[in-house]
Amino acid sequence: MYKIVKKQELTTNIYLMEVEAKRVAKTCEPGQFVIVRMDSEGERIPLTICDYNREKGTITIVFQTVGAGTKMMAQLEEGEYFHDFVGPLGRPSELVEQPLEEVKSKKILFVAGGVGAAPVYPQVKWLHEHGIAADVIVGSKTKDLLILEKEMESVAGNLYVTTDDGSYGRSGMVTQTIKDLVAEGKKYDLCIAIGPMIMMKFVCLLTKELEIPTVVSLNPIMVDGTGMCGACRVTVGGKVKFACVDGPEFDGHEVNFDEAMRRQQIYKTAEGRAMLALEE
Ligand code: NAD
Ligand code: FES
Repeated sequence: MYKIVKKQELTTNIYLMEVEAKRVAKTCEPGQFVIVRMDSEGERIPLTICDYNREKGTITIVFQTVGAGTKMMAQLEEGEYFHDFVGPLGRPSELVEQPLEEVKSKKILFVAGGVGAAPVYPQVKWLHEHGIAADVIVGSKTKDLLILEKEMESVAGNLYVTTDDGSYGRSGMVTQTIKDLVAEGKKYDLCIAIGPMIMMKFVCLLTKELEIPTVVSLNPIMVDGTGMCGACRVTVGGKVKFACVDGPEFDGHEVNFDEAMRRQQIYKTAEGRAMLALEE
């Protein structure tokens, strides 16, 4: 059983929880995720690790209430427990795997959309701790939905906040800010984009044009998280990959986003889930 030691509502329907999970906290790296369950029969919910504290043995997760599972999760309170907290799953971010000197030589741009700010944060923090200042764009629909601004500010080289409705920071979507920064003369060797699938698709179309290599973190439907069930199948560079074991990070310019979005949509209905199960 995994105890919730802190719960905070970051904004409407977006929650942060710090959970005691000593083994996961001991070995996890930025970019990896966990699959949580509230009880033995419950839905398995994959969540990218937002922060970890090796001394305290805790993992921080951030989630948005989008379906029945996450709505039930939001009802859990401090002092209550998760039945399962499996991880760390997936491969760590490429950044932490590469020789530090190589990473230091790159000018890196992170693009975080909405709840995607949560998985971006540990990567930017890791770079900051290793003396690397990355530029970060955080986009949200409106001011009230913006999360982790202060945390991001404390670890980013430059932070650019943008809201779709112009209620805070710059105005427009994250892609507009990328265009503006490049027009202002900024040059980037690598872009890491994490957010809704549609955002990652359009960021990748733009960075391909701008010739900036781009990594995305995919969060398709997951069931077992071990590469066995096929639920998280995505096509990358024309090849079938499983996000849970081959990812979640992939070369964004090679991802078939249209197929990934179609599968995500289909999965929302019981009939669609049955159809996908037949496809596997
Ligand atoms: P959102 O819809 O509020 O979008 C966030 C930002 O993305 C927008 O402010 C905008 O700047 C940008 N964006 C959206 N559509 C765009 C487009 N067509 N072109 C360019 N930029 C665009 O985000 P949200 O409501 O927080 O998104 C929730 C979704 O994100 C969920 O489906 C969730 O599963 C997914 N998510 C993904 C990850 C991941 O690891 N990839 C992590 C957390 C959440
Ligand atoms: Fe089952 Fe990835 S979640 S194969």
